[in-house]
Amino acid sequence: MCGIIGITGREDAVEGIIRGLTRLEYRGYDSAGVVTNNGRDLRTIKRAGKLEVLRRALDEQPLAASTGIGHTRWATHGEPNDRNAHPHVDPSGRVAVVHNGIIENYQLLKAGLGDARFASDTDSEVAAHLAARELAALDEPDLLTAVRRVVSQLEGAYSLCFVALDEPDTIVVAKHEAPLIVAHADGVGYCASDVAALIEHTRQVAALLDGQIARITPEGFEVVDVDGAPVEPHRYTVDWDLDAAEKQGYDHFMLKEIHEQPQAVADTLLDRLNAPPGGGVPRLHLDELRLDEGELRRIDKVFILACGTSLHAGMVGKLAIEHWAGIPVDVEVASEFRYRDPIVDPHTLVIAISQSGETIDTIAAASHARDQRAPVISLVNVVGSTLARQADGVLYTHAGPEVAVASTKAFTTQIVGCLLLGLYLAQVRGRMYATEVSDILARLGQVPAALEQVLDLDGEVRELAERYHDSPYTMFIGRHAGLPIAMEGALKLKEISYLHAEAFPAGEMKHGPIALIEPGSLVVALAPAGHVFTKMVSNIQEVKARGAAVLAIGSQGSVVALKEHADHVLTLPEPPHELAGPVLSVVPLQLFSYHVATRRGEDVDQPRNLAKTVTVE
Ligand code: F6R
Repeated sequence: MCGIIGITGREDAVEGIIRGLTRLEYRGYDSAGVVTNNGRDLRTIKRAGKLEVLRRALDEQPLAASTGIGHTRWATHGEPNDRNAHPHVDPSGRVAVVHNGIIENYQLLKAGLGDARFASDTDSEVAAHLAARELAALDEPDLLTAVRRVVSQLEGAYSLCFVALDEPDTIVVAKHEAPLIVAHADGVGYCASDVAALIEHTRQVAALLDGQIARITPEGFEVVDVDGAPVEPHRYTVDWDLDAAEKQGYDHFMLKEIHEQPQAVADTLLDRLNAPPGGGVPRLHLDELRLDEGELRRIDKVFILACGTSLHAGMVGKLAIEHWAGIPVDVEVASEFRYRDPIVDPHTLVIAISQSGETIDTIAAASHARDQRAPVISLVNVVGSTLARQADGVLYTHAGPEVAVASTKAFTTQIVGCLLLGLYLAQVRGRMYATEVSDILARLGQVPAALEQVLDLDGEVRELAERYHDSPYTMFIGRHAGLPIAMEGALKLKEISYLHAEAFPAGEMKHGPIALIEPGSLVVALAPAGHVFTKMVSNIQEVKARGAAVLAIGSQGSVVALKEHADHVLTLPEPPHELAGPVLSVVPLQLFSYHVATRRGEDVDQPRNLAKTVTVE
């Protein structure tokens, strides 16, 4: 989604801004722009399209200044064109703004500005007009005070970043429900929507909390609340380095991230056992727990809330928690949760799953549950993200930065995180002995090596992608732990190849979807050995009998039977535990989507219309 970077105190701020925007490209965007402040005028260049277009415009018309802000826009209000691209400048040319999020009351605010002329169709531009008006009303120009007055009028979600002509060394930012980071290093002040834009300058950053406003100068930054009282942001050290955010020889970030899964899973499993004080069998622990274990023992229901790929990981989580901890679990699309009447009370545990920790739907659903005094545990990848900070307990996945829009290593580590949570709840509630928990953990420790074996299937998968890259419709079917993987396989394929794909519980086929099968239809069946395997074989036969071509994802224990019925079989190693099977079986589907999309010449890392971090509802 939209990206922001601001720099003040650097000789060539624009060069730094463009580099920062390049690191934010992965978030998905459709236009980009910069504004510089040299104390004489605010100069803006903005273009629809990719950063390359903006770079060319800047080559023709260079901007020189030590203060500036840049933005990549993912359109919400107004089509993606030059006019609607950010930054927006007020009509007097004194204030410029870039904005992530949505200002919900912008029409009302616009009406309050009388006959002011607006240069764009965006909700964001109104913030520049308001800031200019507030500045003009002050005896002494002070952008920080003006912005405080502006944000007290706004409704919605935003991170805003302002510059004003009269304060050429100053950037002022404000945050409410959209991420914003500030930093200072070597006489330069920075702000950004994402640490990826700042990592080449510093790893010491401060995440603003909702309602905080910061003034950034080359000397440092100060943070205040809406009344101007000093407040503390969330300061932390980023635990990954620049290398992790580079392609390192792979053609695409997605391929690199698929191949990083053995390490990411190993890192997520690492150091999960703590010896209790005074000795005894080591116990599984969460990273940050602000909850009493007694509270967890009183839980009688769990809601898992997430979106997209994270939701599919949550579906595996349901199986694990119900199986090990014996608590009923509902998995729900986060964006639906607060618009019905979910039965939530202090005995309901909410598990919110998110790679970014900044998905507004998931954050809003979790806070809706917290309002009803339900404890919330978050399973997130980005350390210090909003969801991690707001939850009562956090379990981090250690996938490292995920840059490709299509989630891969975050997904497999989320599944591992869900398994850990299932074991943790079983341990806390006395459903499993500590020795049983550590025995299963030891078995999960074999998953990274099994993943390496799965990655060796890449050549076979590529051949299948070559054969089926034009298949207009692909159906994915599965049962039990295979169903979330069927759904994830279909999502990956449509996201990056734009081919129609759907997933169904294999048993549902005969209740309707099987009508879609015609000779040559491609059906991908998740059919590893396990307690639903024979049922899967029947479902494969049903589609086969109607002319489908079947690609089965099997395992060593199921391959012989599968070869009798399927056209192609990819054979995975047997997982060390049935519930760890999805971590392995999703990998060929990730590779299949990747190879289909590259064969079709699509932009794998930045698929059309999609954004990496979805900060609007
Ligand atoms: C798909 C994908 C999305 C995200 C979803 C939630 O490949 O990446 O479906 O899973 O937008 O994002 P997070 O996990 O950041 O909350």
